[in-house]
Amino acid sequence: MDGNGRWARNRLLPRTAGHMAGVGSVRKAVEWCARKGVKALTLFAFSSENWRRPEQEVSVLMGLFLSTLEKETRKLHENNVRLRVIGDRTAFAPELQARIAAAEKLTAGNDGLNLVIAANYGGRWDIAQAARRLAERVQGGGIRAEDINPDLFQSELCLADLPEPDLFIRTGGERRISNFLLWQLAYTELYFTATLWPDFDEQELERAIDDYAGRQRRFGHTSEQVEAWAQSAGSVSQRPLRT
Ligand code: IPE
Ligand code: MG
Repeated sequence: MDGNGRWARNRLLPRTAGHMAGVGSVRKAVEWCARKGVKALTLFAFSSENWRRPEQEVSVLMGLFLSTLEKETRKLHENNVRLRVIGDRTAFAPELQARIAAAEKLTAGNDGLNLVIAANYGGRWDIAQAARRLAERVQGGGIRAEDINPDLFQSELCLADLPEPDLFIRTGGERRISNFLLWQLAYTELYFTATLWPDFDEQELERAIDDYAGRQRRFGHTSEQVEAWAQSAGSVSQRPLRT
């Protein structure tokens, strides 16, 4: 979700006004995904590098996170959304940590949209914490070093229980991953739009998904294989294995 600051600057408003407007786009995206039966939506709300921003901006972002959780959790629950937060939350204020834990607990049994908020998250942090946990398991004697393979590694990453993302969307015109889900994005289709996050609405989301729908995903196979297979099976559930 990029472009809040520029959206505000274009209107001669403080950057924080852009973040406030961005919350509206979050609400729209979540509602759209819940309505359309999307299985998982992961929003990059705050990266582990965003602490480098001016203190006042960081504090507004934290305040928005807290107030949005307070305002929206009940509605999410009523709509069968399961909320969780990935990232190192120990850096957050105790009140925010408690609010996050309460929202996760309340919605843990829901089986609709999996809404994941990446906050103080970094893809390298995710990979490093998985490596640390595996090392601990080796030390504890639970596994041997030679047992470690991509599948076992993946099981210690954030989002291990969710399918890998099909589509990545970055708003705001930059064309980079910026330490988002590095491992998980290995086969994800990337979509970049110049639209600033506060302007990103249902039409923009549908445009991104239409673009995605026109792509051929091969997962290492040839296009002839994928086409032959699509003709015989005719269903995306028969996707070739990701190898
Ligand atoms: C939102 O956009 C990203 C967040 C950290 C919430 P930015 O604040 O990065 O907006 P620009 O890039 O300055 O326009
Ligand atoms: Mg930015």
